[in-house]
Amino acid sequence: MSLPVGGNQRERITAEAIRAWKGHRKIAALTAYDYPMARLLDEAGVPVLLVGDSVGMVVLGYPDTTWVTMEDMVHHVGAVARARPSGLLVADLPYASYRTPEEALANARRLLEAGAGAVKAEGGRAIGVVVEALVGAGIPFLGHLGMLPQHIREEGRYRIKGRTEEEHQGLIEDARYLAGAGAFGVVLELVVPAVAAEITRAVSIPTIGIGSGPDCDGQILVTHDLVGTYPWFTPRFVKPRVNAAEQMRAAVIEWQRSL
Ligand code: KIV
Repeated sequence: MSLPVGGNQRERITAEAIRAWKGHRKIAALTAYDYPMARLLDEAGVPVLLVGDSVGMVVLGYPDTTWVTMEDMVHHVGAVARARPSGLLVADLPYASYRTPEEALANARRLLEAGAGAVKAEGGRAIGVVVEALVGAGIPFLGHLGMLPQHIREEGRYRIKGRTEEEHQGLIEDARYLAGAGAFGVVLELVVPAVAAEITRAVSIPTIGIGSGPDCDGQILVTHDLVGTYPWFTPRFVKPRVNAAEQMRAAVIEWQRSL
């Protein structure tokens, strides 16, 4: 059987292009973990596809993202890359894969070899040496600030960030740091909306919000939350646009009855 090959005639979107969209057009980003989802998102014109370590929770059944390995990420990045999306393919560096600059570089290169066009890691000044090593090696880097899911073991729960003055100032400093260090953008996860808006005004790179209010340069969602394919938990800030799980259940029940 010959499989249809993904890919399209549109130009590949680069990290530099995404950076230049700040102030000109909203950036839509969604997670993709496999070939069909990547093709569907590409056909819908999504400019940034994230192979997020959220794959661990919504696909692999882990309790949190700290269980995701480099092998998991390489496997899923490869599947998404085979769809040859024209959107920028960003891959998460998973938990404990960037403890030193050397480790980060080796693992980022594995993700690029698997087909990623950029990598993302969680933290600001705290991972400064890693960010500088990646950017210095010419690897497009997307920052991630606010609620950092890879820190769930220390923090114990997922909570909104930027409520105290210390957190507020820390987030602004971290975002400024990432912009100065050469990140092409920064994800703001569960940041107080007014703080996310302030960061968006304060930095020259795009902010891509998730649960951080409407005033970021773009928005990112876990696709399963948007289309209802992980119905057992939906974050409060997401309004699913379709209940795909319900439609699948109904189709499967209807098929069994028809036998
Ligand atoms: O892993 C992921 O899906 C993410 C997004 C929530 C930004 O990091």
